[in-house]
Order: sequence, then C-alpha cells, then structure tokens
Amino acid sequence: MAYIEWSAEYSVGIKSIDDQHKKLFAIINSLHEAMKAGKSKDVLGKIIKELSDYAVFHFSNEENLMHNLLYTGYGSHKAEHDKFIVKVVEYEKKFSASSTVIAIDMLQFLKDWLFKHVNGTDKKYSPFLISKGIK
Ligand code: FEO
Repeated sequence: MAYIEWSAEYSVGIKSIDDQHKKLFAIINSLHEAMKAGKSKDVLGKIIKELSDYAVFHFSNEENLMHNLLYTGYGSHKAEHDKFIVKVVEYEKKFSASSTVIAIDMLQFLKDWLFKHVNGTDKKYSPFLISKGIK
C-alpha cells in the first residue's frame, strides 16, 4: 500500500491541478519507497530535490491562476506555499548535514501538510477558478 494515496476526496474539481497533486503524492511515495528499501543518501537527496522543484512548479501554477484571475484568497494562500517551501529547504539542509533519519520526520510533515492544504486551502479556490473556466 502506498504511503499516501490520492483519492477522489482530494479532488479540487480541476483536472490539471488534480494531476499535479497526484504527482506530488507520487514523489512522496517514491521517497517513502526509497527509504524503506534502504537506498543511499544520494538517492534520497535526489528525490527530495525533485519534490521541492515540483512543489515550486505546482505552487507557481496555482499562484499565477489565482493572481491573474484576481482571486481574493491569493495572498493568504501564497503565504502557506511560502511557509512550506521554507520548511522544505530547512529539511533539505538538515538532510544533507546529518543522517537520513531526518527524512522520516520530513515524510510525516509532507503527508500532513499536503492532506491539510489540498483538502482545505486548495479546495477553497475551486468554485472561483471553475467559474472562470479553469479545467
Ligand atoms: Fe496545491 Fe496550494 O497547493
């Protein structure tokens, strides 16, 4: 069983964004798998980098949509993204400076944050973006 499973309950009703969320879930699962398999720190580091790069891409995508369409919740939503990136960068630094143990802590953070953010903050923009024709 996957570490985190995407299901319809996490859908924001916009396929392009759901696909990006699925990809984030998939990268977190591959980090979990790599850890379980005892992969090297080098391999884990590459997955963590992939995750942080993809999160930046995904957040930019959401932020551009919200900003360009004048969504009123843009500022507070972006602030959540920014906090997340700060935290992930911290984890990346700790990970490269110490042991892989930090990755376990990181996985839990990623899982909790993503579930909460997608199901709460992201879902708030759904009716607005859908009404603007975003698919
Ligand atoms: Fe899908 Fe706001 O991140």
